[in-house]
Amino acid sequence: MSKRGQSILSIVAAIVLSSTLLFSGFVKALDPLGMCIKLNAYLAYFGIALPDSSLWLQLSTAALTLLEFTLGLNLLLGIRRRLSTMITLGFIVATTTLTLWTYIANPVTDCGCFGEALKLTHGQTLAKNIILLIPSAWLACHPLTLPRLMPERSQWMANIYAALFLVGLIAYTFHRLPLVEMTDYRIGSSLREALFNPQSEESHTDMANFILCSPEGEMLQDSILMADGYTFLVTLPDEDEADDGCNDLLNDLYDLHPAISFYGIIAEENKEQAADWVDRTGAAYPILSGESTQIKAMVRSNPGLMLLHDGRIVAKWSHNNLPTLPEEGIPNLAEYEQRDTSLASLIKLLLWLCLPLAAIVLLPHISRKPNIPNLKNNNKTMRKKIVAGNWKMNKNLQEGVALATELNEVLSTDKPNCGVVICTPFIHLASVADVINKDIIGLGAENCADKASGAYTGEVSAEMVKSTGADYVILGHSERRAYYGETAEILKEKVNLALANNLEVIFCIGEVLEEREAGKQNEVVRTQLEGSLFELTAEQFSHVVLAYEPVWAIGTGKTATAEQAEEMHAFIRQTIADKFGAEAADNTTILYGGSCKPSNAKELFAKPDVDGGLIGGASLKAADFKGIIDAWK
Ligand code: PGA
Repeated sequence: MSKRGQSILSIVAAIVLSSTLLFSGFVKALDPLGMCIKLNAYLAYFGIALPDSSLWLQLSTAALTLLEFTLGLNLLLGIRRRLSTMITLGFIVATTTLTLWTYIANPVTDCGCFGEALKLTHGQTLAKNIILLIPSAWLACHPLTLPRLMPERSQWMANIYAALFLVGLIAYTFHRLPLVEMTDYRIGSSLREALFNPQSEESHTDMANFILCSPEGEMLQDSILMADGYTFLVTLPDEDEADDGCNDLLNDLYDLHPAISFYGIIAEENKEQAADWVDRTGAAYPILSGESTQIKAMVRSNPGLMLLHDGRIVAKWSHNNLPTLPEEGIPNLAEYEQRDTSLASLIKLLLWLCLPLAAIVLLPHISRKPNIPNLKNNNKTMRKKIVAGNWKMNKNLQEGVALATELNEVLSTDKPNCGVVICTPFIHLASVADVINKDIIGLGAENCADKASGAYTGEVSAEMVKSTGADYVILGHSERRAYYGETAEILKEKVNLALANNLEVIFCIGEVLEEREAGKQNEVVRTQLEGSLFELTAEQFSHVVLAYEPVWAIGTGKTATAEQAEEMHAFIRQTIADKFGAEAADNTTILYGGSCKPSNAKELFAKPDVDGGLIGGASLKAADFKGIIDAWK
């Protein structure tokens, strides 16, 4: 498949995965207690249930939320692509295994993947995870085909901002109530309608099964919900863990409003704990029992407070944020009524999340241009200037030695103003080494093996190259990539071996015509750099010279314009700066290659980021090569 095709597939895979992971992480952060309850249901299956709001469950919820969201974000922005895609694959494999078990053993009724926002059956969840295995496996196998939307130096900012945002949201929500209500018990919903008019729009499954039972076993929900006026309900999902710090306020509210109905609701299975609550808090209001999931969904707080008006939910409070009472007199309950602000809150939260993230992603791109002149103005003179010849498969041994001898004479008489290197076929190396003055002309090979030594018939190792007296090796030339199938991985091996044998690497990168026509040249070149050089240390990288050779300009007579060359060289230097730092980028020699001749060399080399040339055809004649070398004079 073409690189373009691979890249498109990776983008689609990343969008599918990241949207699922971001959504899943975000909805968990919106209702973290809901997630604790779901996690606890799994633990209950094994008989090790904890209190819903135990620290362990809170931390697990936060960790799961952060993991999902961070993975989604990193895939979307192309951050730490190898690591992110591997962890994503591991995560999807683990969740698929879990959902397969859920499907078979049915330990819980709702898997909880998307909280209350989207409920899937076990079968649907399993199918979703199996489908997600495909893009995650693809990305884990082709991580570097994923485009990187921001430079490495600002990636940490995106992750830190998202993590702080989520942790803040989770902590706030645990303390108060969800800003975005996702259960059926939202402000404005009518329990009365749901119960008595099950066909109505307001009828939701959870609310239609709403029950309130007196200690004697009498069902009271009908009479309570039919009663006009206000009704307070104190929800007590877990009496043992309930915070009784708010009891004075609850009792005061009850006392101040003897005329309105006021009930506590405790989970049916904990009915006997009602007496404990009365003992602990002095509650005088009647305590009814209800279904546990219903109580937990009504108010995400233990205890929580709900106000109904004519059977409709008009306000909800967490025990940390109960309504205040007036200094004197009876509160006007109409003033306690709240509006459902879920949608507005959702929009605000999304803006608070997305706008800073967008700024973090975009700012380096906007500020990139001014960076470049700084790099070049200061250091063009500091970097090593090189004109290197690439003889390719030309000249027999005698012809090669003659050319090297001639060049040596010419340059000994008229000393060059730049470094000069000739890269020859292997068979020339030792003989050419004998006829050149290495103070004036460096010697290099055009290739080396991707193996250190052994049974690799026909190959020549980096160590062998070095032993001829050569100090350079060209790697990654487009002809080797195209005709000999040299991939980024193979080239990475070659680079490592060359550096390990103290060879300086002239590493070639460049796009083909279709890629330039599609405007993909930057992406192609960045991928080539990343694929073979980005695991080097800064020290190792200091032994690499880059050669930008647009493939459409090699041997075709069609040179890139000096402006095209400069534009790309500046981009390459910025990419190096992003990875290895500004100093390393300043010091990196970047050559231009592709139909470079005496007639155009001067104009090309005058560009601030062009530090010389890699010369093919024109290096086969001493006069032409000298003409290019003289462009530095
Ligand atoms: P060219 O080749 O100068 O003949 O275009 C350059 C190269 O392939 O290195």
